[in-house]
Amino acid sequence: MHVKSVNLETVCGITSTLPENDKIEIAFAGKSNVGKSSLINALMNRKAYARTSAQPGKTQTINFYNINEELYFVDLPGYGYAKVSEEIKAKWGTMIERYLKSSKQLKLIFLLIDIRHEPSANDRHMYEWILYQGYQPVIIATKLDKINRSQKEKHLKMLRKGLNADGKTSILPFSALSKQGRDEIWEYIEGIMES
Ligand code: GTP
Ligand code: MG
Repeated sequence: MHVKSVNLETVCGITSTLPENDKIEIAFAGKSNVGKSSLINALMNRKAYARTSAQPGKTQTINFYNINEELYFVDLPGYGYAKVSEEIKAKWGTMIERYLKSSKQLKLIFLLIDIRHEPSANDRHMYEWILYQGYQPVIIATKLDKINRSQKEKHLKMLRKGLNADGKTSILPFSALSKQGRDEIWEYIEGIMES
């Protein structure tokens, strides 16, 4: 899809009322620092429209990006960020759950997992929870540039096994540096928009 316009339209904090949008929403979930905001920038063809940081815990709100007045990308705060208190973690968890449960326009949830590492307990819980809510999660294996090309298949298998994901779950490798995988992710999104 040719991205003509992007607009950070709504920013929701822990106690905000969530927007009732009239266009489809696509959400990006995953651990802090896994690359959610970087992926959103790559898909939007913008260098730094969504704020990113080497420090985990950058995105602390639910951000709705209006793309071409056609759909929304929903950037979620990351889970599992060690430096915040249990109380704050719980509040973020509740906020993310509230969004994923209540949105009427949410059509697709990408769950991002670093291709280098075994999925964590939090990743597995998130995967299970998305399924439980009736969505078919699509996994994006991020930071593909950080492993040797010859290791790719092995790592993709490791993610599938670690999540106990069956053949219905797609796992798409992606690098925000090389943009490898970006077109395949867009194809997925376009498929959802047409369905
Ligand atoms: P939170 O907002 O804290 O939840 O993090 P996030 O998931 O939005 O991650 P973000 O996009 O801010 O990226 C975190 C760090 O990882 C930044 O330093 C990015 O530059 C880096 N990063 C993201 N994607 C990639 C990638 O594909 N390859 C490499 N090498 N670095 C990446
Ligand atoms: Mg972020």
